[in-house]
Amino acid sequence: MAWEPDLVIGMDIGTTYSGYACLFKDEFRSNPTNIWMHKWSQFSYKTKTCVLLKKNGELHSFGERAEKKFSREFNEDRDLAYDNWLFYNNFKMVLYRENFTAADDCGNRYKAEDYFSRHTPLKDVMSKFIQGLKEDCFQRFCKQRNIQINEDKIRWVITVPAIWNEDAKSVMRTAAEMAGIPGDQLVLALEPEAAAVSYFYLPHEERAAMGGLGHVGDKFMIIDLGGGTVDISAVEVISVSPKKQLKEIIGANGGAWGSQRINDAFAQVCRDVFKDNNGQSVFKDCKKADLLKMENLFEAEKLKITDKDDEEWIEIHLPIDMRDSILKDVRRYPHKYDEYFKIMQCYYS
Ligand SMILES: Nc1ncnc2c1ncn2[C@@H]1O[C@H](COP(=O)(O)OP(=O)(O)OP(=O)(O)O)[C@@H](O)[C@H]1O
Ligand SMILES: [Mg+2]
Repeated sequence: MAWEPDLVIGMDIGTTYSGYACLFKDEFRSNPTNIWMHKWSQFSYKTKTCVLLKKNGELHSFGERAEKKFSREFNEDRDLAYDNWLFYNNFKMVLYRENFTAADDCGNRYKAEDYFSRHTPLKDVMSKFIQGLKEDCFQRFCKQRNIQINEDKIRWVITVPAIWNEDAKSVMRTAAEMAGIPGDQLVLALEPEAAAVSYFYLPHEERAAMGGLGHVGDKFMIIDLGGGTVDISAVEVISVSPKKQLKEIIGANGGAWGSQRINDAFAQVCRDVFKDNNGQSVFKDCKKADLLKMENLFEAEKLKITDKDDEEWIEIHLPIDMRDSILKDVRRYPHKYDEYFKIMQCYYS
């Protein structure tokens, strides 16, 4: 008899946020949307895509916990943090490069970069991150349901951007296997395809609100606006019963146009605007931890912006050392206050 899973565990590893979800096969039959997910915060089923390793490469933590721990260690003693820790974020985008080959990950071309710009093969970092998600998922799910999971009966699904090439996908597969996920129990699913399939299982009202699509012959487009990439694909419904079947009608499209670009542009504006008289960025000596903090503050404000907003300004309270760097510059050259103000105004008008 063909192998059948008892439990499906899905992992969505995003550029900025990641999460996991579990569903027993029996529960899927009675209620396919009865999916168990851990709520990481009041608003989110995902945590930050970042990972903290000990110097020997062992996993310490991942997600927001890793970021907090590393920031604390860094603020206490930068040199000790350098000696003891490896902290990685924004590593998924390494896999989305033109002409990326799996050999590049082991060679010197493309690697994950830690906070202090030290390089490690991406698959090693990705595998530690997957290991963190996997262990965390087991621990929380088993505890909540008070069950033991038979690992041989799990179907693992990891979603990947449709626009990745085959080599990038194979690095993800290797990373998952290194994290202890058996290759023959693992499926890599394309992110927009997973979204299209899940649409079929939404409650009737939700589907109606989205146009009630889902009849044979209906065609629809899925646009996944992520942190790193934008993935666009289009499918046609081929059959709904007894099996639900979709056909791809346009190959995956998209690019590195995710929302992280807005954060990068903000950081660039800050570097361009706040320059000393020698043309050097006022932020050049700022701690990376402060730059990270500033990005987090900007990110939080960005998420509050809506299309109904008529407020033109957002307010960010800079970390104290950054504020001092700017103030030092302004005190030295008082005319610059007006200059800075004018430049910022013209960037935002
Ligand atoms: N209201 C908003 N305005 C602008 N950007 C937003 C808003 N809400 C979320 N974002 C951005 O969306 C991104 C997170 O989306 P998502 O979780 O889909 O990305 P991801 O899965 O981490 O990335 P990817 O799928 O590209 O690898 C973040 O960069 C976040 O800043
Ligand atoms: Mg995503």
